[in-house]
Amino acid sequence: MTQGKANEQQQSSGPGRRALLATAVLGAGSAALAVAPAAAATAAEQGGSRGRGFRSLPVPTVIAHRGASGYRPEHTLGSYQFALDMGARVIEQDLVPTKDGHLVCRHENDITGTTDVADHPEFAGRRTTKSVDGVSYTGWFTEDFTLAELKTLRAKERIPATRQENTVYDGRWEVPTLEEVLQWAEREGRRRGREIWLHIETKHPTYFRKLGLGLEEPLAKLLRKYGRHRKNSPNFLQSFEPGSIQRLNKLVDAPLVVLLSSAASRPWDFVEAGDPRTVADLVKPEGLKWIASYAQGLGPTLDLIIPRDASGRLTQPTTLVRDAHAAGLILHPYTMRNENTFLPAEFRRGTVASDYGDALGAFKVWFETGIDGIFTDNPDTGLLAAADFAGN
Ligand code: G3P
Ligand code: CA
Repeated sequence: MTQGKANEQQQSSGPGRRALLATAVLGAGSAALAVAPAAAATAAEQGGSRGRGFRSLPVPTVIAHRGASGYRPEHTLGSYQFALDMGARVIEQDLVPTKDGHLVCRHENDITGTTDVADHPEFAGRRTTKSVDGVSYTGWFTEDFTLAELKTLRAKERIPATRQENTVYDGRWEVPTLEEVLQWAEREGRRRGREIWLHIETKHPTYFRKLGLGLEEPLAKLLRKYGRHRKNSPNFLQSFEPGSIQRLNKLVDAPLVVLLSSAASRPWDFVEAGDPRTVADLVKPEGLKWIASYAQGLGPTLDLIIPRDASGRLTQPTTLVRDAHAAGLILHPYTMRNENTFLPAEFRRGTVASDYGDALGAFKVWFETGIDGIFTDNPDTGLLAAADFAGN
């Protein structure tokens, strides 16, 4: 289980109530365009032959994780749109395939928790148990649905106990295809007169390739169709499986990011191939040099940058930021969320898990490590924190 999944499964101790930082949203977005010239210079030195485009992004770059998923059901056009309206420059998509090979935006192929599929009696017989990357799941899976069938479903909030306010939008949006998102980004780019950056992740690529549903080729085909395959195209491509990134490296020229889970974990393609290396090996200089031979960035857990102790408090930063920069890699760690339940212990406020803690304080600590960007469910808060950081 990834740290992200473990965190998401924590339940709040009460319904909570949050005040959106909406009043500052648009201002923060424009202010953040000019953040941190010193840090930007650091990023500008990196990226190899790819990435003239991403070097133009503000640093630290605020990446809207699954859209503005702190406020809207994740991976919906509503969530992506709200993130963009907040001022986020980069919007994240996770990709899984349908039975007929279409790429759709979901965090996992098990759609039990993020759609209303359980309310559709016509699909009751599709409920099943599968092993995905060595973990058993029971539910409904995208690879068992055609796109037409999937389009009859509606998205819902993943963590209603923590984000009760978001449930007001349950049932409002469909599961978007990547192609719909590319068209949306093109429309929004024309309307706003600037590029809309995407940060696109291939989910479970080895698992899907074994089913005859390889992700990288259709992804590359769509990127080519929309002119987003070039080294300066406004998208990052990311995966927890280095093999997926290496495959993409041969198909397109867009900048590539290797995601890293906990130090003791092994990428699933390593497990399948019998490669004994763990994430702890990959963050050593030799591992970073290997990653830099085909990728431009790392997406580590926040804990790989600053580990937490047994009480959940932050300890001393590791050398990962320095070492990755020395290898020519940028860092986009994940995932900052405003609620107490996700924050380091010293930034929690009060005892209600779903209430907001001192998220601005936490963002500041992460930015001070020298990271180049950060994934967050709360892009408005991240943009304010980035603007504050630039002013210091
Ligand atoms: O892709 C960055 C971050 O999203 C990785 O974690 O599990 O939320 O996709 P996950
Ligand atoms: Ca992701």
